[in-house]
Amino acid sequence: MSQPPVLISEADIQKRVAELAEEISRDYQDKDDVVLIGVLKGSFIFLADLSRRLTIPRTIEFIAVSSYGNGSVQSGAVRLVMDVRGNIEGRHVLIVEDIVDTGHTLSYLIGMLRSHGPASIRTCTLLHKAERAEVDVKIDYVGFGIGDEWVVGYGLDYAEQNRTLPYIGNVEPTDR
Ligand code: IMP
Repeated sequence: MSQPPVLISEADIQKRVAELAEEISRDYQDKDDVVLIGVLKGSFIFLADLSRRLTIPRTIEFIAVSSYGNGSVQSGAVRLVMDVRGNIEGRHVLIVEDIVDTGHTLSYLIGMLRSHGPASIRTCTLLHKAERAEVDVKIDYVGFGIGDEWVVGYGLDYAEQNRTLPYIGNVEPTDR
C-alpha cells in the first residue's frame, strides 16, 4: 500500500514539539504540579513526546471521547468513553489534543473537566483546522494550523489506519 504524502515532516514536528514544551514549561514554571490530560486515541504520540520534553513537574492522565464513526464524518454529539482516573480538583490541567477540527470535542471536554473543579484549565493541540471551526473554543498552545483536509500519522488515523506514521500526511477520505 502506498504511503500518504507528507504534509508535515518528522523533523518539523519534533522541532515544533520542542518549542511548545519550552513555552509550556516557561508558563507553568511557578506551578508545582501540572496534570496533562491526553485525549485518546489520537494524542498518544504527541503527549508522549511533549511530556518528555517538559522541564516542570507533571503527571499524566488520559480521557477518551468519541465523536466520529470509523471515518471522517462526524456522527453527532461527543460521547465520553473513559473519564480521568486521578483527582484533578484544585490542580492545573492542560488538555492535550491531537487536532481541533470543529471544536466540539474540546469544548465538551473543557466543560466536563471544569465540573471536576480544577484550579485552571488550558488547552494544547498539535494541529488546528481553523477554517472548520463551528464553536468558539480557546486554544492556548497550537503546533500547526492546517487547512480543510484529512490528516493521518503521529497518532492520527483514518479508519484506524496510519496512526504510527512518524510524519503527518494527508489522505482523501472516501466518505466526505
Ligand atoms: P472536533 O470535535 O471536530 O474538533 O474533532 C476533534 C477530533 O476529530 C479529533 O480529536 C480527532 O479524533 C478527529 N479528527 C478531526 N480531524 C481529523 C483529521 O484530519 N485526521 C484525524 N482525525 C481527525
